[in-house]
Amino acid sequence: MALRLRLALVVAALAATLVAGGSVAFAFSMSAGARATLQHSLERRARRVIEQLAGHLLPTVANAARPVASADQSTVQIVTPSHRLLYTTAAAGPVSLISLHLFARARRGQVWVQLRRPGWDNPHLVLAEPAGPVTSDVVVVGASLDQVVDITHQVDLVLELVGPAVVVASAGGAWLLAGSALRPVERLRAQVQQISAGNPRARLAPPGTGDELAALADTFNGLLDRLCGALDHQRQFVAAASHELRTPLAALEAELEMVGRGARGAVDPVEMTHRLTGRVAELVRLADGLLTLARADEGAGLVHVEPQPLEPLVAASLDGFRAVAERSRVTMVLDADPFVVAPVDATRFRQVVGNLVDNAIRYSPNGARVEIGLRRVGTAAVIDVRDHGPGLPAEFLPRAFERFSRADPARSRKEGGAGLGLAIVWTIVDAHGGTVTLSNTPDRGALARVSLPLDVGAPHADPHPSRR
Ligand SMILES: Nc1ncnc2c1ncn2[C@@H]1O[C@H](COP(=O)(O)OP(=O)(O)OP(=O)(O)O)[C@@H](O)[C@H]1O
Ligand SMILES: [Mg+2]
Repeated sequence: MALRLRLALVVAALAATLVAGGSVAFAFSMSAGARATLQHSLERRARRVIEQLAGHLLPTVANAARPVASADQSTVQIVTPSHRLLYTTAAAGPVSLISLHLFARARRGQVWVQLRRPGWDNPHLVLAEPAGPVTSDVVVVGASLDQVVDITHQVDLVLELVGPAVVVASAGGAWLLAGSALRPVERLRAQVQQISAGNPRARLAPPGTGDELAALADTFNGLLDRLCGALDHQRQFVAAASHELRTPLAALEAELEMVGRGARGAVDPVEMTHRLTGRVAELVRLADGLLTLARADEGAGLVHVEPQPLEPLVAASLDGFRAVAERSRVTMVLDADPFVVAPVDATRFRQVVGNLVDNAIRYSPNGARVEIGLRRVGTAAVIDVRDHGPGLPAEFLPRAFERFSRADPARSRKEGGAGLGLAIVWTIVDAHGGTVTLSNTPDRGALARVSLPLDVGAPHADPHPSRR
């Protein structure tokens, strides 16, 4: 059922309940007031009759077979213990208004009853009480409840005529109000419908009312901004990844063409196979790196940590670079504390050390040293990779961990770097709850420092690693 209709029905039901309840309460208080006034006047009248009786001012008779005429047309009787009438008015009639049982009760004090008699249009309120301290007679006074009945009738009339009108008017009002309140919602809904993947830059026009709807539009626009940002990020990532894949693929294609020509005797097959294997290894490394970052973006469990000594892992990482280091005539020096144990994902940890050592060797001059340190500092395991190369340009340092960022794209590209190594390091270290920094050392060269928590339950530095 539409919200608007639901609101109108609820308001109609509320209005009906309020009108009925209000009318009943009003009728009750009005009739209670009228009845109280009537009671007071009956009490006053009874007192007057008792005074008149005591002063022998009433024309009493022993047997009121014929009613005694009364000027005020009121209902008054004086009844004896033998249930005869000493006095009665024309309105009260020739028969005692009260029964013997009521008479007995009235002898002891005030008795109020509501009576109906043939010839009376409405019931009467009747008061019976002792006629005086020295007599056993009872004074009976009564008056019609016309006013109380009239009030009840009037309220009934209001209920019948005004009630439905009020209910219909309030339901109509609610319908109109809900319509105007929901109109901006409908406008927003139509705008949201128009925002599609084709025009993701479109935004909702805030109603400018400063109310909850304006806040909803702002929140929705914020959500769209974040989604667009994520979409842009993914697009850039895919574009950059394709670009990076193209270069080694083009080189591979060119070299394969050379193999074709070499078949006619121009290229040494061993050397060519070696070069092709290198190209394919580069592609595999690139694909691995992209996969690592994509998995981290997905929020999929990138690391599965297990407490273990770090020294063997660092040593194993260095072993993988012995040949490269030798070729570049770089000496790797490891200074490791063998007792440092930390919860790490062994494969990912080796990837971190490998990427940093790869950079250090790649950017080191021939004959230089690359120093790798592992030690415990407070509650962290600290891994340092220091080289004596040119270091990083100061303006590049803040961007060094961004994906596909290279200080000197042309030069690094030639040297085979895609600009992903440090981004991968950052992502893996972050997934371990650690931190990584890169700086230039005072004596020329770069220092990469990784700091990993020693406790399994150490709090994660940033629960939502920003995408680099
Ligand atoms: N030790 C270093 N000395 C000098 N410059 C460095 C060093 N480490 C990194 N850089 C600079 O930072 C850039 C980013 O490094 P990163 O490891 O992310 O990418 P890469 O080494 O170029 O390529 P990849 O690691 O993906 O093969 C490098 O291109 C280089 O310009
Ligand atoms: Mg690198």
